[in-house]
Amino acid sequence: MEIDGYTIDESRLPRHVAIIMDGNGRWAKKRKMPRIFGHRTAMKAVRQAITTASDLGIEVLTLYAFSTENWKRSAEEVSGLMSLAIRYFLNEIKSMNDRDIRVRVIGDISGLPEKVQEAAHKMLADTADNQGMVLNLALNYGGREELVHAARKMAEAGLSPDQIDEAQIEKYLYTAGQPDPDLVVRTSGEKRLSNFLLWQIAYAEFIFDDILWPDFDASCFYKWIVEYQHRDRRYGGVK
Ligand code: FPP
Repeated sequence: MEIDGYTIDESRLPRHVAIIMDGNGRWAKKRKMPRIFGHRTAMKAVRQAITTASDLGIEVLTLYAFSTENWKRSAEEVSGLMSLAIRYFLNEIKSMNDRDIRVRVIGDISGLPEKVQEAAHKMLADTADNQGMVLNLALNYGGREELVHAARKMAEAGLSPDQIDEAQIEKYLYTAGQPDPDLVVRTSGEKRLSNFLLWQIAYAEFIFDDILWPDFDASCFYKWIVEYQHRDRRYGGVK
């Protein structure tokens, strides 16, 4: 398919795309505005990413919205981000249902403020039967925390050492049953993973784009897919 000048092979789309949405603070700073203005503008980019991925037929989209380390930010910024999350969960249920998108929250939901938890649970319940794209919102998410959580759950389930293998661990991750990300993108020019999906990204392709997240639009997504489709994935083998 030809779109916005990009040629995309629909038979070789990544099944799962994961995005580290970075650069909101710098985007706002450039405009001499408070950081939260960057996060607010970022919500438009979040919507664009979701509609673009679902229109393309991506099976799973994961967005890194708040990490287990983001609590270190000012109380004002944290509460601003939490308010954005609440508003998102309560206001976007209809648009998720119109697109048949099933929303999941990955991360330690129990560590989020009560109101965020309630709004998240409503969004999850109201979209649970949808059959289209799965949207994972990573909130209070950390890759190491996810592995600790999985190990605890396995211990609780009384698994014996010989029952623990890769397939078993996968069942206890927040992303259980989902394909691993084929493509991980980080915006803003930073080249770090920042504790994102540590287990799941074993064979992912990475793209680091200089664009600041609030400037993201559909054409960025198409560009990333084209770049992904030029990669030679060997999974440790030879060709
Ligand atoms: C990184 O930019 C962005 C974040 C830590 C927050 C991203 C969150 C949103 C876009 C809101 C998402 C909410 C939902 C429910 C989808 P930064 O602040 O680290 O930017 P900087 O590196 O330029 O300072």
